Amino acid sequence: MQEKTATALNTDFAQEVREGLTDYPKHLSSKYFYDEVGDKLFQDIMAMPEYYLTDSEFNILETHKEGISKLFMGNGGAFSLFELGAGDGKKTKILLRNLVEKEADFDYRPIDISQNALNQLEASVSFEIPEVRINTIQGTYFETLADIAKQNGRRKVILFLGSNIGNLLHPQAVEFLKNIRDILNEDDLVFMGFDQKKHPQKILDAYNDKTGITEAFNKNLLARINKELGGNFELDNFLHWEVYDPETGTAKSYLVAKKAQKVFIEALGLKVNFKQWETIHTEISQKYDDEVVNWLADKAGLDIIAQFSDGQSEYRDYVFKKSQR
Ligand code: AVI
Repeated sequence: MQEKTATALNTDFAQEVREGLTDYPKHLSSKYFYDEVGDKLFQDIMAMPEYYLTDSEFNILETHKEGISKLFMGNGGAFSLFELGAGDGKKTKILLRNLVEKEADFDYRPIDISQNALNQLEASVSFEIPEVRINTIQGTYFETLADIAKQNGRRKVILFLGSNIGNLLHPQAVEFLKNIRDILNEDDLVFMGFDQKKHPQKILDAYNDKTGITEAFNKNLLARINKELGGNFELDNFLHWEVYDPETGTAKSYLVAKKAQKVFIEALGLKVNFKQWETIHTEISQKYDDEVVNWLADKAGLDIIAQFSDGQSEYRDYVFKKSQR
């Protein structure tokens, strides 16, 4: 236990848990949802009927795969297809199959924070589409952009699906897009999904399913603190709570203390007091419209060269290039 405690203390997770739970108001980062349990819960979320994002993007890729593949292939030269936050790759496989059919000269380089997700993805792509050359990269988006930058030579196409960008606040999103812009060459492309503003109830339902899968996903942060840092959170003492502001397009997730309580986190030697109804903010899931995406692109020095939408314009994939201005 001694050794585990010393190691755990030095991790980003331990440091961010300490910072977040001693801050006011309390917060924890959604990037820590994704351990083995969280990866599985997120897959379950993506399969829920309420979580429309996956189906919308799946349909966009299925409907427009020909045009998207042509854009990716450019003038027919070799390219590397990087995917940030690749997850289970279910949607990407539509494009991989189409590119293989077209005999595109490419390799697939999925990037994810979760080694577990990457291992599963590599196994399933190799099994289902053995023609694809796949090389996984484990790390956070920011760390791995540096790796991508070093892979010069081939044209780059960078995929960022699932409206993952929505988990960043606007200033962080601009920073992130600028970091991407900095590693792009003139002919490189970025293909990115942005969930659109829509009926607020539909958004609330997507993040507050009756089956409790999203609740378990949110509470997995507390379960991880218990497991990895020796915490004693009682998960039943917290509510999963979702709010959506149609003015800003921001959906926010919270854990709310149902009663006053004290939690001890052994590895941090930290006692955390909760008042009744005190909150821990855990995630934002930003929703967009064309105006906001144009604004983000402009701030980051990117041009939108194409966009693909579902029938109801509830979800959009945009294609960006480095701005030549
Ligand atoms: C990964 N990310 C885009 C998801 C979202 O919609 O914000 C994570 C999620 N959180 C709750 N449900 C799904």
